[in-house]
Amino acid sequence: MRDYLEVAVEAAKLGGEVLKQSYGQVKKIEYKGEINIVTNVDKRSEILIVELLNSRFPTHSILAEEGTDMAKSSEYKWVIDPLDGTTNYAHDYPIFCVSVGLERNGEMIAGAVYQPIFEELFVAEKGGGAYLNGRKIQVSRVDNLKQALVSTGFPYDVLENAGQAMKDFSCFVDSAQAVRRDGSAALDLCYVAMGRFDGFWEPRLKPWDTAAGVLVVTEGGGRVTDFHNGLYSIYKDQVVASNGLLHEQMCQVLQRARQ
Ligand code: IPD
Ligand code: CA
Ligand code: CA
Repeated sequence: MRDYLEVAVEAAKLGGEVLKQSYGQVKKIEYKGEINIVTNVDKRSEILIVELLNSRFPTHSILAEEGTDMAKSSEYKWVIDPLDGTTNYAHDYPIFCVSVGLERNGEMIAGAVYQPIFEELFVAEKGGGAYLNGRKIQVSRVDNLKQALVSTGFPYDVLENAGQAMKDFSCFVDSAQAVRRDGSAALDLCYVAMGRFDGFWEPRLKPWDTAAGVLVVTEGGGRVTDFHNGLYSIYKDQVVASNGLLHEQMCQVLQRARQ
């Protein structure tokens, strides 16, 4: 298992170097949708990460956001976001990362999330705890939403579903101490794992947004479910992550926002 985490870290750092080198000088932006962009940097990071993983583990499946879908008959599958926080990156807002997760028979077993500007590396292994730059991390102890700093994100189809997104947001503004929208779901999850945030929710994320981050949260002692406090999978389209103590309160807010 050590080997897998070491390679996940190597891959996340390799992608992170690409992001760092080109930070502040994005040359090419393409539009996947009206507000959904991809840069030459996302693609370069993905190519290098996929090459590395494929050379080390040629039998493993690999799924990555910018087009890689190598499905092989293996119990192992790498799930990668080569640049999470692309809009931030394109605007020189330094909240973005590389996320590399490894799934075995549908369960996340290793993950690395690397923020190359602040040089923050979050890692987790199933059953082995969560770490930031080698130090063990844990979720916060806040048990009252009124004292909680929570975060969210708006998916790229927010314009078509603006009503519900605004209801959710406004219910949390009413119920929590404060709400942030930082623009990188993988980092949002890691920030819950280390107690920087007390909770996070977002609808319609993709497997690569959450694969590594959810393991970091659960290994940091937190809880991850869907909006109904039900079992979470990276293939589900709702995620609530919290320190555990706030979990039911957060799910109740989301239910209230749907009445
Ligand atoms: C996005 C970020 C953002 C979230 C979006 C994601 P990308 O990923 O994680 O925080 O709100 O839903 O799609 O496109 O920057 O990799
Ligand atoms: Ca993403
Ligand atoms: Ca991305």
